Amino acid sequence: MTTHVTDIAQSAFLQQQPVKMLIGGQWVNSASGKTFETFNPSTGEVLAKVAEGDAEDINRAVVAARKAFESGPWPKLTPSQRGRLLWKLADLIEKHVDELALLETLDNGKPIKYSKAADIPLTADHFRYFAGWATKLEGDTIPVSIPNMFTYTLREPVGVVGQIIPWNFPIQMAAWKLAPALACGNTVILKPAEQTPLTALRLGELISEAGFPDGVVNIVAGFGETAGAALVAHPDVDKIAFTGSTEVGKKILQASAGNLKRVTLELGGKSPNIIFPDADLKFAVRGAMNAIFFNQGQICTAGSRLFVHKSVYDQVVSGLSDLAKGMKIGLGVDPTTDLGPLVSQEQWERVTGYIETGKREGANATTGGARPDNEQLKGYFVQPTVFDNVSDEMTIAREEIFGPVVTALPFEDVEEVAARANKSIYGLAAGVWTSDVKKAHKTAAALKAGVVWINTYNQFDAAAPFGGYKQSGYGREMGHAVLDAYTQTKTVWVNLR
Ligand code: NAI
Ligand code: MG
Repeated sequence: MTTHVTDIAQSAFLQQQPVKMLIGGQWVNSASGKTFETFNPSTGEVLAKVAEGDAEDINRAVVAARKAFESGPWPKLTPSQRGRLLWKLADLIEKHVDELALLETLDNGKPIKYSKAADIPLTADHFRYFAGWATKLEGDTIPVSIPNMFTYTLREPVGVVGQIIPWNFPIQMAAWKLAPALACGNTVILKPAEQTPLTALRLGELISEAGFPDGVVNIVAGFGETAGAALVAHPDVDKIAFTGSTEVGKKILQASAGNLKRVTLELGGKSPNIIFPDADLKFAVRGAMNAIFFNQGQICTAGSRLFVHKSVYDQVVSGLSDLAKGMKIGLGVDPTTDLGPLVSQEQWERVTGYIETGKREGANATTGGARPDNEQLKGYFVQPTVFDNVSDEMTIAREEIFGPVVTALPFEDVEEVAARANKSIYGLAAGVWTSDVKKAHKTAAALKAGVVWINTYNQFDAAAPFGGYKQSGYGREMGHAVLDAYTQTKTVWVNLR
């Protein structure tokens, strides 16, 4: 069964005026009665009105989450029962894959072929992976050197967790945050991005349907400076998990100091993608295209600094430019679209501003560099853009653009390229393309990045840890690494004498 745009528009979910927020198991309007609009980036038209959360709504959600954490059914559920709820939620997500994919594409702009084949299935997968962890949160027995003591550790949930997510992978980011927090027994207040609140709110309905007790998951849409800031400053929130800009990450760290909240941050990047001359070049060029243009370049791991050995530089740049020219730019809902619009007018201005800066500083766009020449495309579109004649010091080679814009940079040898790749405030991801196994591992070791992809790029799996070095963040998501972020260790001493 396939869902169509008209079905979505007439769905009970979008027929709400406005789309409500989830607090303590109830779907409610904001305390202030205020609403905000979310847009379809493919057309620039209003998609829905959404209840706008603010400090008062956040406070109500925190009270509900605290109550659900301390009393009621949630803390009494067995690990197996928690796991089953997560598994059931995954089944419900899969059951609604067409609807969720379309809603995600309408709200974010991303091509429907990707939301259907990747975003929604990976969301279900994430909940399934963490369903398995609920029953495996083991402590240790500790062989202390004090006689007659029996000493063991317990892994307990952190408590009430505030989670703030961005707009680039709205439902997947919700899953990355919710699944481990719930597996570990925490309760949550999730604040989706103001640009893309819809799939997180629809997920909230599925969470209720799956049978999670009231107040375990609260979802409050609203703006960062109001709802987000209130969540970070709230004295009864034990932990904040954030994905977004490095700039806001720093603000969150400061604002969370009041009650010394635990904080994990997944922030920006300016990731190097390095092509050695011994790589399978056809494959590497295709990889470079996916590294930068996937999701319109709106991905924290985007391979935005493409280092190419000078002996193959011209060949790679012209190959990549040809592939970029061949990408079909189109509406998110068109199943043949390769590249959709950017998420918002604001992001369009930011990205095209960087393109202008690049040109002004002397870089040369071998392809792209403008809005597509197509009257039909009225939304926030920008052509895939390859910049040549770039130096490492230029703004476009240093700052995160978060759009389909890559800078191609020639290099001569391994030590040189590793040093240049590492010369960044960021350290999120890196790519290496070579058929020499020694060079591959040596380069991976030399790169200061939380993830290194060799002869591939942008691979993610619920089981593989992900996170940043340097100003790309604190902590890791996914895999068992994330369990440290959502549990705390209690050591118990028993005198057996
Ligand atoms: P942002 O960092 O402002 O927004 C991300 C989330 O944080 C949203 O939910 C927003 O409402 C919230 N937020 C904003 N200010 C806040 C505050 N003071 N307190 C609490 N929450 C707050 O990112 P924005 O403005 O959407 O994009 C700006 C740039 O950030 C992008 O161009 C890109 O470079 C980077 N970015 C990186 C992402 C990543 O995945 N690492 C995701 C989104 C943006
Ligand atoms: Mg912002």
